[in-house]
Amino acid sequence: MEYRKLGRTGLTVSRLCLGTMTFGFQTEEALAGRIMEAAADAGITFFDTANVYPLGGGDTRAGHTEEIVGRWLKGKRQRFVLATKAVGKMGPAPWDQGASRKHLLDAIDASLHRLGTDYVDLYQLHSDDRETPLDETLEALDIIVRSGRARYIGVSNFLAYRLARALGRADTLKLARFVSVQPRYNLLFRQIERELLPLADEEGLGVIPYNPLAGGLLTGKHQRAATPPEGRFTLGTAGQVYQERYWHEREFETVDAVCKAARDADISPVTAAVGWVLANPVITSAIIGASRPEQLTDSIAAVDRPLDSAFKAKLDELSYEYRFGDALR
Ligand SMILES: NC(=O)c1ccc[n+]([C@@H]2O[C@H](COP(=O)([O-])OP(=O)(O)OC[C@H]3O[C@@H](n4cnc5c(N)ncnc54)[C@H](OP(=O)(O)O)[C@@H]3O)[C@@H](O)[C@H]2O)c1
Repeated sequence: MEYRKLGRTGLTVSRLCLGTMTFGFQTEEALAGRIMEAAADAGITFFDTANVYPLGGGDTRAGHTEEIVGRWLKGKRQRFVLATKAVGKMGPAPWDQGASRKHLLDAIDASLHRLGTDYVDLYQLHSDDRETPLDETLEALDIIVRSGRARYIGVSNFLAYRLARALGRADTLKLARFVSVQPRYNLLFRQIERELLPLADEEGLGVIPYNPLAGGLLTGKHQRAATPPEGRFTLGTAGQVYQERYWHEREFETVDAVCKAARDADISPVTAAVGWVLANPVITSAIIGASRPEQLTDSIAAVDRPLDSAFKAKLDELSYEYRFGDALR
């Protein structure tokens, strides 16, 4: 495993971060434990979760993933850098979601309780809550950092202009500053190269993208079919979202071309896709997902075997059209 500083902070993170969003619904607890063990054995010391997980579990299961991660971390918390997120819906009241001062201060305590820890290393806004004034959110996060409940703060799923505003407001108000961004990024979704990644580079932010395999489509294991097989693409409404993003003829054609290029270079498509994300110099760590421990092997190989520049250029070319396109998909 390799390690890097998270942006301009002094915090060292592994170049792969283990995503946990399948734990507690698609992946039951014992299997989740084996995935975390396999990741830790490979030197992955950076774990990402969120209060709303597991994916596909609906409102009633929200929080279950943090509990599973917390039970597994018992007795070994100090060996890991732990990131979680808030903003998603966590209860029936209208204030049980969003980035208000009330919700964030409730949400951090609830996450710490489920995770069985006094602090998280990175506390992230899961998405941009435009109904709450930015200054209120920043002040609440500042309290969370100054009270020691989070070491650093970050954002996920923010547009570049909103993040630029937030950084400016934090500097003006002398509040804790976001140190990282967690965007979606893969060979089939490259829009962030146009504005968010240059902003992150200029501002010295850590970049920890999720979804490097497009939910598994870039493994090449899925056949074109009207109905996807059981797995990521069938997890209720979440599965529906993944189908809308990726389950299209054009994306299958690109995946075919990527898999052929990978075969020609004697690299597995998983190693190629994760390696392509890591090859971008602005990327700190890629957040990888797995529903079984064996799935981690080819992603881990991407760190041990960086892409050569000609192969990276080939993948850039095959996926060039995904720098543009429908921002909402
Ligand atoms: N901030 C956000 O809004 C956000 C959104 C999404 C994810 N995330 C974070 O990022 C993490 C990773 O996201 P992701 O799961 O979408 O990443 P991903 O790498 O795009 O997809 C992971 C899925 O790909 C399949 N897969 C992985 N390795 C494989 C292999 N070697 N062979 C065959 N199939 C393989 C598995 O699908 P099957 O389940 O079908 O086996 C696995 O669940 C999440 O756990 C979460 O922590 C954050």
